[in-house]
Amino acid sequence: MLELKELHKSIGGTEILHGVNLSIRKGEVLAVLGPSGSGKTTLLRCLNFLEKADSGSVELLGTSLDMHAASRSEIAEYRKHTAFVFQNFNLFANKTALQNVTEGLIVARKTPKAEAEAIGRNALKRVGLADKADAYPSQLSGGQQQRVAIARAIAAQPDVIMLDEPTSALDPELIGEVLNVIRQLAEDGMTMIIVTHEITFARSVATDILFMDDGRALVQTDTKDFFEKNNNKRVRDFLSSLSERMFINENDENHKKNNSHAHSGRASHGKRGGMRKKRGRK
Ligand SMILES: Nc1ncnc2c1ncn2[C@@H]1O[C@H](COP(=O)(O)OP(=O)(O)OP(=O)(O)O)[C@@H](O)[C@H]1O
Ligand SMILES: [Mg+2]
Repeated sequence: MLELKELHKSIGGTEILHGVNLSIRKGEVLAVLGPSGSGKTTLLRCLNFLEKADSGSVELLGTSLDMHAASRSEIAEYRKHTAFVFQNFNLFANKTALQNVTEGLIVARKTPKAEAEAIGRNALKRVGLADKADAYPSQLSGGQQQRVAIARAIAAQPDVIMLDEPTSALDPELIGEVLNVIRQLAEDGMTMIIVTHEITFARSVATDILFMDDGRALVQTDTKDFFEKNNNKRVRDFLSSLSERMFINENDENHKKNNSHAHSGRASHGKRGGMRKKRGRK
């Protein structure tokens, strides 16, 4: 359904992406994993034409675009089929949840207001926020704001939704509600490309994993194979560094709780609710 070929992108004279390929079929969820700075965000921004690639092509639903030379109208057409969810929600502060969700429909797509509102209310219902239609972003928690942003993506009725670390700006207790909404979308058959550091979530929801390393798509494979059969050293190092960090965190918590001996041999991922890099809000 979507196929990216040989994406190259330089920033400030340095090549950041060195010929990235990926493909995704309808109804699949592709999780993009990889170390910080490996090019995941740049990949997604290029895929959505928020950044102009140096070269590469993307084929969506049978239409191929040159990622460097695509015209405005070609990009506008492509964007009718795609939606993007940002790390920091990107909601309009002076618009209600419903207005945020319907804005694109009314302004860009010229959907009649009543119809847009019906679509918008339905989208808010799907993310569990039917009762918050008239709330402004400042009256919503971070998790609720991100769910509004997801409702906005759903309302556009895209063929594929791309999400860049949708939970990394959230406080830990708010991550679950957003992941649950994304999980439900996946179960409903929405095609998604999601950059995430939530390994446990990726493992349970994604059909495929793309592993980025130093501007290259090192591996794209079935999720089960990625976690169970992968012989790539970089992937193994990445997974074991996460396991070690999780192990350390668990021991920290055990220390705090009972100030007693650490557990042993429980380093496997998937034990707890997902790993997350420590990072500030941007
Ligand atoms: N505007 C910019 N100017 C200069 N370098 C940039 C710019 N944006 C990204 N880069 C560089 O491109 C590389 C890839 O960055 P990118 O943000 O795509 O990584 P990432 O995999 O999303 O990382 P993270 O997991 O921390 O979000 C990094 O080395 C980064 O320093
Ligand atoms: Mg990033």
